[in-house]
Amino acid sequence: MNLILFGPPGVGKGTQGSRLSTEFNVAHLAMGDILRAAVRDATAAGLQARQYMDAGQLVPDAVVVAMIEERILAGNGQDFLLDGFPRNVAQAEALDAMLAKNGLSIGRIVFMDAPEESLLKRLCGRLICRACGFGFHRQYSPPLKAGCCDRCGGELYQRDDDREDVIANRLEVYNEQTAPLLEFYQHRNGFLKIDAGGEMEAVYAALKEAVSN
Ligand code: AP5
Repeated sequence: MNLILFGPPGVGKGTQGSRLSTEFNVAHLAMGDILRAAVRDATAAGLQARQYMDAGQLVPDAVVVAMIEERILAGNGQDFLLDGFPRNVAQAEALDAMLAKNGLSIGRIVFMDAPEESLLKRLCGRLICRACGFGFHRQYSPPLKAGCCDRCGGELYQRDDDREDVIANRLEVYNEQTAPLLEFYQHRNGFLKIDAGGEMEAVYAALKEAVSN
């Protein structure tokens, strides 16, 4: 079953999406990770995306739609979980058209919600492993050894867009451009909303139930 996880920055899409995709054996297609890899590798799309990401703005639709289509088709029929795509109504319409063209569909659309105060705390404390990409949090899920990934020993860093001023922009962009997706999706078959403001395990349990039923 193909899935969409959507919700505000810091709600836990990446953390929970990664765990869910491993447990359900689906490809985790995280738009932010795909874009950061393109920036790191200085591809043409990455060079175009960088200025938008640094400012907390959305990368142009044409760039992200082409990138996600390529990743979906490269999966050769493996089920996928979309995290961070679509992020506005135009992207959702492009996704519908792309899926229809390729005989694919989405089985579950899960909207994850949490209070803005929790989002800020989560984003400000986030740390990511430079080597394997695993996520930690200074307070909620700290590494055993400061600055060092528990899984692979890689160096932990803070994302450039997890600065307070950029976070404020990202939340504004979310409210203006991504929140309208709720109206777009909420009457579709397979739509579910979960409370993602609680502790990590409780959120995962709610998500798993939403996906399993
Ligand atoms: P992206 O990387 O997708 O960022 P985002 O949507 O802002 O989401 P985040 O990755 O910040 O948060 P998350 O929900 O994954 O939270 P996480 O699990 O890490 O996008 C970055 C940029 O790329 C965008 O600003 C834009 O420029 C561009 N972009 C991406 N997609 C695009 C698109 N479709 N169109 C155009 N541009 C696009 O959790 C956060 C922290 O909280 C972690 O430290 C985690 O450990 C902790 N945490 C998570 N859950 C809990 C919990 N329940 N309790 C306590 N701590 C928790």
